[in-house]
Amino acid sequence: MKGVVLAGGLGSRLHPLTKVTKKHLLPVYDRPMIYYPIQTLVNAGIDDIMIVTGGNSAGDFLKLLGNGKEFGLKHLNYTYQEGEGGIAEALGLVEHFADEGPVCVVLGDNIIEKDIKRAAEDYSRQDGGARILLKKVPDPQRFGVPEFDGETIVRIDEKPENPKSDYAVTGIYFYDQTVFDVIRGLEPSDRGELEITDVNNHYIDEGTLTWSELDGWWTDAGTFESLNLAAKLVAKKAN
Ligand code: G1P
Repeated sequence: MKGVVLAGGLGSRLHPLTKVTKKHLLPVYDRPMIYYPIQTLVNAGIDDIMIVTGGNSAGDFLKLLGNGKEFGLKHLNYTYQEGEGGIAEALGLVEHFADEGPVCVVLGDNIIEKDIKRAAEDYSRQDGGARILLKKVPDPQRFGVPEFDGETIVRIDEKPENPKSDYAVTGIYFYDQTVFDVIRGLEPSDRGELEITDVNNHYIDEGTLTWSELDGWWTDAGTFESLNLAAKLVAKKAN
C-alpha cells in the first residue's frame, strides 16, 4: 500500500503564523509538523510516500525532507496543488502515483500517539472500499462526525452544529482505487472545496466503509489551541 500526506491549504485559522509559511512547516515541540504524519505512515510499514503541498513555501518541503533519509526512506514523492480546492481535490492529484492500488491518506496536521499498523492490516484484509479511524473527542463539532445505527456508520456530517455522536473522523483514511472516480463526481461544498467527508459518505452509501477506533491520543494541529495541545502531548511522550 502506498501513503499520501496532504499538506496543502491556507492554514487561515493560524494567521499570522501561516502568513509567510505553511502550517505543516510550523514546529510541534521538536519537529516540523509534517514529520509526524510521515512517521505515522513509515511506522505502519508504508515506505512509498507522496507529499501533496502547494502555495508559497511549497519548495521548502523539498529542502526540509529531501529524499526522506531521516525517516529511513530512500525516496519521497512530491506533487503541487494549485489553489485551495480542498482535501479531496488534493487527493485527486495522486491518481498516477496510486497506480490502481490502495492508498493510506494522512492529513498533514494530524498527530497520533501510537500507530496505525492494525488498521492498515485490517484494511488489507478487507475487499476494497474504505476504512476510517475514529476517536472520541470533547469537541466533535470541529470535525467530521459519524452518525451510527448500532455499529454501522450511516452518515458523516462535516462540522455539525449538533453532532450525532462524540466521535471525530480523524484525518487518517484508507481507500481503494475507485476513490479517484468518486472525487471526479464531487461537487464543491458551500466553502468552495471538495470535501473528504463527501468521499466517505459515498463509500457509506455504497456499503463499503468500515471503521475502527484509534489507539492512544490523537489531535489535529490546525488551530492555536490544537497546535498548543499537540506540542504538549508530543513533549510529554518524548520526555
Ligand atoms: C478535516 C476534515 C474533517 C476531519 C478533520 C480531521 O477538517 O474535513 O472531516 O475530521 O480534517 O483533522 P479540517 O482540518 O480541514 O477543518
